[in-house]
This record gives sequence, C-alpha cells and structure tokens, in this order.
Amino acid sequence: MHPMLNIAVRAARSAGNVIARTFEQTDKIEIEAKGSNDFVTNVDTQAEQIIIDTILKSYPDHSIISEERGIIAGKDADYQWVIDPLDGTTNFVKGIPHFAVSIALKVKGKLDQAVIYDPIRGELFTASRGKGAQLNNVRIRVNNMKELNGTVLATGFPFKQKASIDAYLGMFKDLFAKTADMRRAGSAALDLAYVAAGRIDGYFELGLKPWDTAAGELLVIEAGGLVCDFTGGNNHAKSGNTVAANARVLKNILTDIRPHLTPAMKKL
Ligand code: IPD
Ligand code: CA
Ligand code: CA
Repeated sequence: MHPMLNIAVRAARSAGNVIARTFEQTDKIEIEAKGSNDFVTNVDTQAEQIIIDTILKSYPDHSIISEERGIIAGKDADYQWVIDPLDGTTNFVKGIPHFAVSIALKVKGKLDQAVIYDPIRGELFTASRGKGAQLNNVRIRVNNMKELNGTVLATGFPFKQKASIDAYLGMFKDLFAKTADMRRAGSAALDLAYVAAGRIDGYFELGLKPWDTAAGELLVIEAGGLVCDFTGGNNHAKSGNTVAANARVLKNILTDIRPHLTPAMKKL
C-alpha cells in the first residue's frame, strides 16, 4: 500500500472508531446548526482533529482542506488532503447508521489517494491513482449496465438549495420513470463508494462540496467509472453538480438531466 494511503487509512479508522463509539452514546452528541438545514456536532470536529493530527504527524508540511476547519496552508502546496470527517451528519444525529469518513489526497491538483470508511459496517474503500479500487482489500469494479432500465440510482436531495428544487425534481422525474428505483441514503461519500463497488448503478446530486466527493471520485474512476458535472464537463469540483456511473449509464443520466438545467447550472 502507498505510504500516504496507509496514513489516510490509519486516520480514517481512528476517526471512525470515535464516531462509532459516540453513536452508541447519544447523550454525548452536541448538535449545532451551522446553516440552513446544515448541522455540525462535537463528533465532526473531534473526528476532524484526529485525522488532521494523524496526517500532519507524518507529513507536517502538507496542506489540508477540511469541512469544519477550512484551509490549513502547509509549506508544501503540491500535497493537499481533502477531508470530510463525517459524511452523513444528518443520519448520525438521527441515529441512522449510515455515514462515513472521507479522506483524499491530491498531488499537484490531481486526485492520488482515497479512503472512505464506514465505521458501522467496517467497510474500508480505498483507491490509489492508477492502481484500482478496493473494498476491504478486494478489488471492486463499477457494474456494466448499459441502459437506465433496471438500474438503481443514488441521489441526494438539494436540502440546502431549495431554490433548485424544480430543476432537481424535473431530473428526478425523468430518471425515475426509466430506472428500477432510486435511493437517497444520506452520504454522498458512500453513494460514490457504492457506485465504485457496483452496488449502485449511478449517482447524481447538485451543490456538493469538494470534501463530499474527492475520495469518492477517485474510487469511481479507479473502479472503471466516470465522474462529471451536469453538462458532461469537468467542472464538478467547482459547481458541486456531480454525476457518476459507468460510461454508458452516465451518458443516459446526462440525457435526462440536460433538459432541466437552469441557466446558472449551464454556466458552471
Ligand atoms: C452531506 C451528505 C449528503 C448530501 C449533502 C452533504 P455532510 O454531507 O453527503 O448525502 O446530500 O449534500 O452535504 O454535511 O453530512 O458532511
Ligand atoms: Ca459531506
Ligand atoms: Ca461532514
């Protein structure tokens, strides 16, 4: 295993253990609203600190961008870690056991290493650039569905951007008519990991942040899939509008998304 992936795994497991332990002791969870329908808990920040400490202990000069702490500019800007200490906070605070730690490393702007760890199921998804993707050390691949017919797609509702609801529901309606079913499980990181593992046939969501998708994107690519924005371009890290699937399913998802794009979505 690449030494930097090894550190990422160590960080994800340590943070995941704290998250899983606190999940059993709900009286220890302190919830704070940080925006509209957007929550942070003491566990998010505790897990984040564990991850940052683990990374900086081995790589003190590296840079970090992390959901709750923001940017930590290190001496070495070529190495940037992108961290979501707890993806699926709403599930966590509601007692729904579906959330994950997500850690990616970008080298000179390119995704290089990725870990998504589900501490409840003990599932560790890993990927290294050019080396494939694994679940608990076993190679995973996106599935080979061709049409939307028979697929199960994952999505996220735009609960922080309710202004986009009509556009989103238009996309949802057209896709839902063709797919077997849809899932809104509540963790973008796990949605992407599940696409990589072939459990889910495709995924789309708007308004995501870089830490939601960085690790999941490398997992999908290394598992043989594609990730793009709503116009089929490469601006998803910026716009947050993200689609992931194998090449054929991705093309079909984009065909149904396109008619519903708002002018703002087309520009991004
Ligand atoms: C959220 C989850 C959710 C997605 C949201 C994200 P958080 O991350 O990934 O599935 O729909 O857009 O913000 O806030 O739980 O880290
Ligand atoms: Ca997140
Ligand atoms: Ca989070």
